[in-house]
Amino acid sequence: MSRVVVIGSGIAGLIAAVEASRHHSVTLITKSNLAESNTHYAQGGIAAVSSDDDTVAEHIADTLVAGAGLCWPEAVDVLCSEGPGRINDLVALGVDFDRQGEQFARGLEAAHSHARVLHAGGDATGAGISNALVAAVRATNTEIHEHTFLVDIAIEKHATEKDAAGRSQVAGVHVFDTTGTRFIAADIVILASGGAGQLFRHTTNPAVTTGDGVAAALRAGAVLADVEFYQFHPTALAVPGSFLISEAVRGEGAVLINAAGERFMKALHPMAELAPRDIVARGIQSQMMAQGGQPVLLDATALGASFLSERFPSISAACRSYGLNWATTPIPVTPAAHYWMGGVATDDWGRTSIPGLYAVGEVASTGAHGANRLASNSLLESIVFAHRAVSNLGQPWPEDAPAARWGAQGPLLELDLTETVGRPSTQVVDRVELQTMMWDNVGLARTRTTLESTLDQIHAWRPADPAHRLFPDWEDANLLLLAQALTESALARHESRGGHYRLDYPETNPALARPLTIARKV
Ligand code: SIN
Repeated sequence: MSRVVVIGSGIAGLIAAVEASRHHSVTLITKSNLAESNTHYAQGGIAAVSSDDDTVAEHIADTLVAGAGLCWPEAVDVLCSEGPGRINDLVALGVDFDRQGEQFARGLEAAHSHARVLHAGGDATGAGISNALVAAVRATNTEIHEHTFLVDIAIEKHATEKDAAGRSQVAGVHVFDTTGTRFIAADIVILASGGAGQLFRHTTNPAVTTGDGVAAALRAGAVLADVEFYQFHPTALAVPGSFLISEAVRGEGAVLINAAGERFMKALHPMAELAPRDIVARGIQSQMMAQGGQPVLLDATALGASFLSERFPSISAACRSYGLNWATTPIPVTPAAHYWMGGVATDDWGRTSIPGLYAVGEVASTGAHGANRLASNSLLESIVFAHRAVSNLGQPWPEDAPAARWGAQGPLLELDLTETVGRPSTQVVDRVELQTMMWDNVGLARTRTTLESTLDQIHAWRPADPAHRLFPDWEDANLLLLAQALTESALARHESRGGHYRLDYPETNPALARPLTIARKV
């Protein structure tokens, strides 16, 4: 029996805790309450093959195409093949997917060759999953610490017995709560703390998404991969808070129109509104630039009032709350930061480069998404790899994990952490200024000039003094560090591919179809 600490309470963390608690002593740490996570707000659903007219091979092919040449094929194979089994696990844990007769109801989303996106409560899929899993984890003997912040991952050296290479090994976590900072010892730490949408001024993600797990792993010495690849969702409601308008709405037939009332996506891609996300998001951005920054419109009026309120109750309610009637009038939409393909580099079992440290869900970079994630593959990745990580507990840690995939394949960038840990003369980082700069300079389109000026500003900021930090200060320190990692990686990738678009290198360079990895300079 191992002492396992799980960080995060989205779908990946909850599944990891439920499964690990069957054989191990589990402590779950979450910085808000158990139900608050990016998962909770997921709308479209979870992609998996569940019908006779669809095949795992086609799901694999769609995922590889969306990933723009950067997927790790073995991870994609694992994701799509094991997905249907993990969906059955969710059903057994009480997730009530919508049905049509005996079959799961299935939605279509961009770049999928079949309707294979399962949903719950119409567009309240995330809440349906999260509520069931919160109940499931509460029914285990998991020790739950809410409102508790991961400060750092503690590691110690094992010279010979456990690890012949003498590598560092996880020893526990330092956390911060109302009582101050304390240490929790652990044999295993499973990071499931999600992405970092809060790096950008406009994001569909909730306030908790500040990349705390990725930043802590980087400080602990773990290798990150693919961090230059950020996915911008094409359609967020153009209101403060960027409420997500699910791709499933376009899957049901809604279309995008510009200020002149013209459908512009048809000229940009054969799949029009259902082209891969990066293409639709940039198509919208160009239209917006051509119309003086005004948002484009999503026209769902042809779908009819009763269908819209039944299939998309959450979006219908959100539109009403902003005084919009989307059954009669097209609604204003704009791209917003949505999902980080990059993260802590793992192998197919969630193992990172630090023995004892697993990463699952958006915090991880498994290679399953490549440069651009296929819609609704993220919840799937979380359950598949959380399950695999738990099933791997107790197994020997290969000396090259996960370097077999990442280490040999590309240049290793080194991040000098001293540049973000405090020069007394510099200014404390301002979150809104950081987010605005990241949106403007490191968002949908990047250039060497915008990236270099971003790095200059990042180096002119410092995080608040650790001795006086509250939750937002710990978050700001993480966002500043991750902004540096993302910007340096974006500067180093001299091409455009998937979620990374360089105006000064607009073409994809086949010679660069390999991951960039980044780690702290030692
Ligand atoms: C959506 O509902 O459009 C989001 C689904 C996803 O990000 O995979």
